Amino acid sequence: MDTSAFLSHLTAVFPGDPQDTDPVDPSWTAMTDEVAGYTGPNELAVLQAAAAVLPDGEAYLEVGTYKGRSVCAAAQGNADKTFYAMENFLEFGMTGQQARDELMGNLERHAGGANVHLLEGDCFTLMADRSVIDRPVGVYFYDGEHTLLSHYLALAVAEPLLADEALVLVDDASWPLVQRAHRLFLKRHPGWQVVATWDAREANDPRWANGLHALVFRRPSSRHAQRLSRTDEVLRIYQTRVQDRLNTVAWKAADRFPGFFKGAAKVVLSRSRAIGDDER
Ligand SMILES: C[S@@+](CC[C@H](N)C(=O)[O-])C[C@H]1O[C@@H](n2cnc3c(N)ncnc32)[C@H](O)[C@@H]1O
Repeated sequence: MDTSAFLSHLTAVFPGDPQDTDPVDPSWTAMTDEVAGYTGPNELAVLQAAAAVLPDGEAYLEVGTYKGRSVCAAAQGNADKTFYAMENFLEFGMTGQQARDELMGNLERHAGGANVHLLEGDCFTLMADRSVIDRPVGVYFYDGEHTLLSHYLALAVAEPLLADEALVLVDDASWPLVQRAHRLFLKRHPGWQVVATWDAREANDPRWANGLHALVFRRPSSRHAQRLSRTDEVLRIYQTRVQDRLNTVAWKAADRFPGFFKGAAKVVLSRSRAIGDDER
């Protein structure tokens, strides 16, 4: 993936600085009306622009598809590209056939005729299985679980799958916990840099939701390890065998006792998810 071409292409997608202007194409706002979801119109325009620059022979990978808003946007006008979308149907009352049906319906109606390969399951298990994606990933969009560990692993577990040059877009990146995970990860892993930060001015900002950061990965050499370090593998095993089970219990309980969990989440998450209050 030519990541410089992507950054240049953005000058045609926005009339000015993407941070402070609406996309030239007004249809992204309509997309937010038509498909339920958590991404803002400027984010959708950036995702589509990234997919447009993706070369033949590389894949677009999304983690955290929910009802399909972000991947439907990315696929617009890109029906010839290869899309993978990972979703475990866990959060926001997604459990059950109805959620699946809604997502499949949206993919059919709003994905511009693109063939999106939906991979159902835990992304940290799926991404570690090298037989799941059939080509290097040139564009990777992470919008899955938002904890410090999951954001660290979102980069660590994806790295072996990435093309030698790849664009990595991370949602909710205005949250302190996401930036902290990126700092921890970048300190320990060569070849990565943050190239753009489109931050939310407020929570659920009308353009950028909770912010989108763009990172570029360039594999340092062809001999660079294409598997996880021992520490990262231990963290991945903890996430998939312990944390994932705790999450399942917590989301099921949150479905049953929404009032209690809303209050508890406010107390537990407020600092790590405060916009414009990055802790260092
Ligand atoms: C914020 S939503 C995604 C929003 C979507 N990208 C959009 O544009 O509206 C996060 C999604 O990630 C999914 N998710 C969370 N943890 C996951 C995991 N470990 N593996 C796969 N999907 C996960 C949740 O079920 C949820 O649907």
